[in-house]
Amino acid sequence: MSDNQLENYLDRCRARVEAALNEYLPLESIQPTRLHAAMRYAALGNGKRVRPVLVYAAGEALSASEDALDAPACAVELIHTYSLVHDDLPAMDNDDLRRGRKTCHREFDEATAILAGDALQSLAFKILAWDKTMPANAETRISMIESLAMATGSRGMAGGQALDLAATGREINLTELENMHIHKTGALIRASVQLGTLQAADPDPEHVRGLDHYAKCIGLAFQVVDDILDIEGDPESLGKTKGKDMANNKPTYPSLLGLEGSHRMAKRLQQEALDSLCPLDAKADPLRWLAGYIVDRSR
Ligand code: IPE
Ligand code: IPE
Ligand code: MG
Ligand code: MG
Ligand code: MG
Repeated sequence: MSDNQLENYLDRCRARVEAALNEYLPLESIQPTRLHAAMRYAALGNGKRVRPVLVYAAGEALSASEDALDAPACAVELIHTYSLVHDDLPAMDNDDLRRGRKTCHREFDEATAILAGDALQSLAFKILAWDKTMPANAETRISMIESLAMATGSRGMAGGQALDLAATGREINLTELENMHIHKTGALIRASVQLGTLQAADPDPEHVRGLDHYAKCIGLAFQVVDDILDIEGDPESLGKTKGKDMANNKPTYPSLLGLEGSHRMAKRLQQEALDSLCPLDAKADPLRWLAGYIVDRSR
C-alpha cells in the first residue's frame, strides 16, 4: 500500500460523507435556528470521519453499492458527533477544545449542546428509517436501526461512558479497562462495520464473521491509541487539549501498561484485525489500510 492510496481513499470517503451530512442536517436558517446552528457546528467540524470510512470500506469489501452506504455512514457519524458533544460537557470531561475549535457548549451554551446531542442522535435513526437513497428493504432497515441502537445505548457507548465516569479517580484492572473501552468506543466502530455489511446482498457468513472480528480488534485499538495520543500527541494536530486523562484522573491503557506496552498492544490488535480479513479478497484492502491508519495516526 502506498500512503497515496490510503490518503486518496480517505479523501474520497470524507468528501462523500461530508456532502451527505451537509444535506441531511437542517439549515441554520430553519427554526429553531440556534439548535440547528449548534448541530451543524458540531457535525461539520474537522473530524477524521473514521467510522463513516469504515462503513464504506466494509460495504465495498462485500460489493455493496456505494450509493447505499452514504446514509449509514452519516448515521454513525451523527451518533459519534452527539457522543463527543456530550463527552465534552462540564458534567463529563469538561473540555474546551474539539476538532481544533471551541467545544459545542463553549461556542453556544450547555443547554443548547445537550439538545444538539439529543437531536443529532434522533436524526441518525430518522435517516436509517426514511432515507430513499438507500435501497434497503424494511427488514434490513430494522436490522440497521437495531445494530446502531445497541451500539449507542446502555449496552454500548452510553454504558461505556457510564463505566468511564464510575472509574474516574479509581484504580481498575485491565479487564475492567478493556470492558470500558470496548463499550465506550469499540461498540460504535463495530456497528460501523455491521452497517456496511448489512448493505451487501447475500454475503458469505465467513466473511461477515471475519469483518466483525476485525471491527472488534480495531475498535479497541482505536481507544488504546486515543489514550496514547492524550500523552504523546501534538496538541496542534490533535485539535483537543492534551493531558486531560491524567488531569481528570482517568484510568487509561498507558496508566496500566505504560506507553511502550500500550503501543505493543495496539500493534497486536492491528495484526489480529488483519488476520481476521484473510478470507477476504483485494476489495477488503481499504480495511487493511485503515487498520494501519488507526494504529499509526497522529490525531
Ligand atoms: C474521539 O473520536 C473520541 C473517541 C471515541 C476516542 P475520534 O478520534 O474519532 O474524533 P474525531 O471524530 O476525529 O474528531
Ligand atoms: C470518548 O472517550 C468516548 C466517547 C464515547 C465520546 P474520550 O473522552 O477519551 O474521547 P476524547 O479524548 O475526549 O476525544
Ligand atoms: Mg470521555
Ligand atoms: Mg473526552
Ligand atoms: Mg481520549
